[in-house]
Amino acid sequence: MALLDIQHLTVGYGGLPILHGVTLRVEPQEMVVIVGPNGAGKSTLLKTIAGLLRPQEGTLRFNGQDLTRLRPHRMVHAGVCYVPQVENVFPSLSVDDNLAMGAFVRTGDIRAHKDAMYSLFPDLRDKRRLRAGALSGGQRQMVAMARALMLHPTLLLLDEPTAGLSPLMVGIMLEKLRDIQRTGVALLIVEQNARQALQRAQRGYVLAMGQNRYEDTGPALLAHPDMGALFLGNA
Ligand SMILES: Nc1ncnc2c1ncn2[C@@H]1O[C@H](COP(=O)(O)OP(=O)(O)OP(=O)(O)O)[C@@H](O)[C@H]1O
Ligand SMILES: [Mg+2]
Repeated sequence: MALLDIQHLTVGYGGLPILHGVTLRVEPQEMVVIVGPNGAGKSTLLKTIAGLLRPQEGTLRFNGQDLTRLRPHRMVHAGVCYVPQVENVFPSLSVDDNLAMGAFVRTGDIRAHKDAMYSLFPDLRDKRRLRAGALSGGQRQMVAMARALMLHPTLLLLDEPTAGLSPLMVGIMLEKLRDIQRTGVALLIVEQNARQALQRAQRGYVLAMGQNRYEDTGPALLAHPDMGALFLGNA
């Protein structure tokens, strides 16, 4: 059974559909990448899964349950955490307090969880008293991910986690995502760095104009003859 199973999802902002019958699945502990041109609806899809937008049509099943119209906090409780494309940290709070905010729905001692995050992202440990807004782009992305992971998600939704990073940092960040996956978390990632992401992902989807365009394993998409055009979105 798929962990996340989306069927024929139609959703928009204020009535006008942006996604038209999108279908997608994520298996347990799988890394799945969504690529496609600007405006394809990639962020809209993640926002819908996170419970921020209400579908007009279609179904969203998670762990076998129908969660189609669940509110965001209920999705978090169900095990789905979302790192948005922009403004995904509290810039005026310290790194440490950002992590604590991530754990706001948890009870008990969060120190051990923070410590696990600093083991996963060692660069952040030295910086834990600094304001998140004072960090580099890559470090801010790591804070955003660590904050989401404080909630122990089963599925982590990441919207362009490597945007604006140097080529070296893109590779480092994608390897971090593999590390997270190895801890047993499934990942659904929107990525502009399509090649590098698909090299590491089990499967990928190409979205264009709010619709499924292609779907295949990472290697098969990489080998697709329209590969270049695919990711520019004019295939
Ligand atoms: N809050 C909003 N209200 C109305 N329309 C919106 C809103 N957010 C996005 N849209 C529109 O929905 C369409 C899809 O946007 P979306 O942000 O999902 O695309 P995307 O694939 O994530 O693009 P990008 O690669 O630029 O991040 C675009 O036409 C956009 O203008
Ligand atoms: Mg987007």
